[in-house]
Amino acid sequence: MNILVVGGGGREHAIIAALAKSSKVDKIYAAPGNGGISALAECHPVKATDIDGMVELAKKLQPDYVFVAPDDPLVLGMVDKLNENGFKTFGPRANAAILEGSKVFSKALMKKYNIPTAAYETFTDSEKAIAYVKEQNSYPAVIKCDGLALGKGVIIAKDFDEAKEAIESMLLGGKFGKSGSEIVIEEFMTGPEVTVLAFTDGVTVKPMVSSMDHKRAYDNDEGLNTGGMGTIAPNPLYTEAIAAECMENIFMPTIKAMAAEGRPFKGCLYFGLMLTPKGARVIEYNCRFGDPETQVVLPLLDTDLMEIIEAIWEEKLCDLDIKWKKEACACVVMASGGYPEKYPTGLEISGFNADGQLDSGEAFVYHAGTKLEDGKYLTAGGRVLGITATADTLQNALDKSYAAVNKISFENAHYRKDIGKRALNG
Ligand code: AMP
Ligand code: GLY
Repeated sequence: MNILVVGGGGREHAIIAALAKSSKVDKIYAAPGNGGISALAECHPVKATDIDGMVELAKKLQPDYVFVAPDDPLVLGMVDKLNENGFKTFGPRANAAILEGSKVFSKALMKKYNIPTAAYETFTDSEKAIAYVKEQNSYPAVIKCDGLALGKGVIIAKDFDEAKEAIESMLLGGKFGKSGSEIVIEEFMTGPEVTVLAFTDGVTVKPMVSSMDHKRAYDNDEGLNTGGMGTIAPNPLYTEAIAAECMENIFMPTIKAMAAEGRPFKGCLYFGLMLTPKGARVIEYNCRFGDPETQVVLPLLDTDLMEIIEAIWEEKLCDLDIKWKKEACACVVMASGGYPEKYPTGLEISGFNADGQLDSGEAFVYHAGTKLEDGKYLTAGGRVLGITATADTLQNALDKSYAAVNKISFENAHYRKDIGKRALNG
């Protein structure tokens, strides 16, 4: 089979590396792909958000499946358009991707179906929102814009002034465009976070190995929020008892709720969870694989990914026994100096062989923001690389990843030195 993967970051590199191991896959195409992906897939310069362009590319390449990995094309309805044109896909249709595309939708769904999450109110009027925060008088206050905002649409305000500023920047300032025309103000929860990605065909849900992201830019969770500076899997805080509780109270109820609403979710559903003193609660849903969670979860998959993609399309996921390696995996992100704010691009990366990998082979390098030009790998984004290793224990996986990080360099490269520390220390 031939498959076209839409996207061009570390997550897509991890998906493509998993597909490259499949005995069922002959050829992989990527659009747009990146420098590292080009070692495994034929890259085509179509933007991930260009729906008409992607349909045209699919018509030309005639892949057996199109795997839509990023959130924005899913929310915009790329899967719907591809299906209308006769292509089989992996990923939810727009009416299910709304679970990530609108926080107002997802919060209302959870309220209606009793799925545990932070208590909340929604607002379109800034004065009413400000009056509400004043009346609640409880800080930190969590303020979120309704739509997609490149991971920047959540503000944890530590006092009234910060809350007021956040509300005004979303509802009046137009900082987030249409995404910020409605906001959610919710209760602040505490506890460690866990990501659980789950395969689902709309009826059956099969959770993958759990993981932990590290969202802040600097060590000890300081600095701005980023797309994710590193991940580990499995997450040791996510015990079997918690997994059973989540299956009963969160995963299955969500899949059933979406089906009952006439919005069956097919693909990978991302559960962002917080283990609060009162039990596991949903922080957010994403309608796709996480980045960089995918980079540590898929290397532990022991079942052919293509078989899972087919089972989901055919709605036969219940018949498939998905197996996982009993190992640990760690990913350390190397980012451009300045990320998540302003950063340079086009810097040469040293330490790689012709495939953009380390010759020593102790770690796999997922390329997030790179391009290959005249045989040289150059930086091309904020998050540049995800250096990933698998081992018998988390400590050994981390040691292998960090040893590999030391062999790769580019000017002002920045990475966290404490990935996995919280998971190891409990
Ligand atoms: P999100 O984009 O919804 O994942 O939010 C980004 C981050 O903000 C999460 O990973 C949490 O660390 C934090 N966060 C979001 N909602 C809450 C909440 N209700 N209580 C505490 N922290 C939150
Ligand atoms: N790592 C967080 C996300 O993919 O949204």
